[in-house]
Amino acid sequence: MSKVYVFDHPLIQHKLTYIRDKNTGTKQFRELVEEVAMLMAYEITRDLPLEEITVETPIMEAKMNVIAGKKLGVVPILRAGLGMVDGILNLIPNAKVGHIGLYRDPETLQPVEYYCKLPTDVEERDLIAVDPMLATGGSAAAAIGFMKQRGAKSIKLMCLIAAPEGIKVVQEAHPDVDIYVAAVDECLNDHGYITPGLGDAGDRLFGTK
Ligand code: PRP
Ligand code: URA
Repeated sequence: MSKVYVFDHPLIQHKLTYIRDKNTGTKQFRELVEEVAMLMAYEITRDLPLEEITVETPIMEAKMNVIAGKKLGVVPILRAGLGMVDGILNLIPNAKVGHIGLYRDPETLQPVEYYCKLPTDVEERDLIAVDPMLATGGSAAAAIGFMKQRGAKSIKLMCLIAAPEGIKVVQEAHPDVDIYVAAVDECLNDHGYITPGLGDAGDRLFGTK
């Protein structure tokens, strides 16, 4: 079974509270989502391998650590996942970015992929799938499935807020995918929204309704 990590750093919790606030406008919402994504990227990359190189300081030659040539990729789930990409790239600018778009067929309720473009060497990369909301888990489970169909072998899922229901769905579908969140909320409401949550992440990011 995969693990769930909750990033409880005070800065993340503080910013998430203002993201949740319905009085936070689009501009500030977008900025805060980017900032939290950056802070979460700092935490999620803790296990990156290091290697020693030789540097010359003004004083002497010394062996010091740099990140070993790990190939990373960020895959936002459209549309709201886009809001997390720049924050992550601030810290890992060499990561490649894939995109995956899904909608739910209104009759079958099955997720239908409408867009997918992943890095060509996807099987060699450590991928972070990003989406602010993990609600029923249907979107994330399907997106991860589509990534695996294209050869992805190493995937982490990073979300701002998860519902317990969504965590269970992803863990059952993808026991190899660890989940990283800033908060696990109480439950879903009758409309599939996370409570207390933050509302509709895509609409709040892009100012649509
Ligand atoms: C939201 C969110 C997730 C999905 C979560 O996207 O960004 O992708 O819902 O719900 P689930 O866990 O029940 O699948 P939405 O479908 O609203 O699309 P959008 O990002 O284009 O607004
Ligand atoms: N999608 C959202 O944007 N918010 C939720 O609470 C659930 C799904």
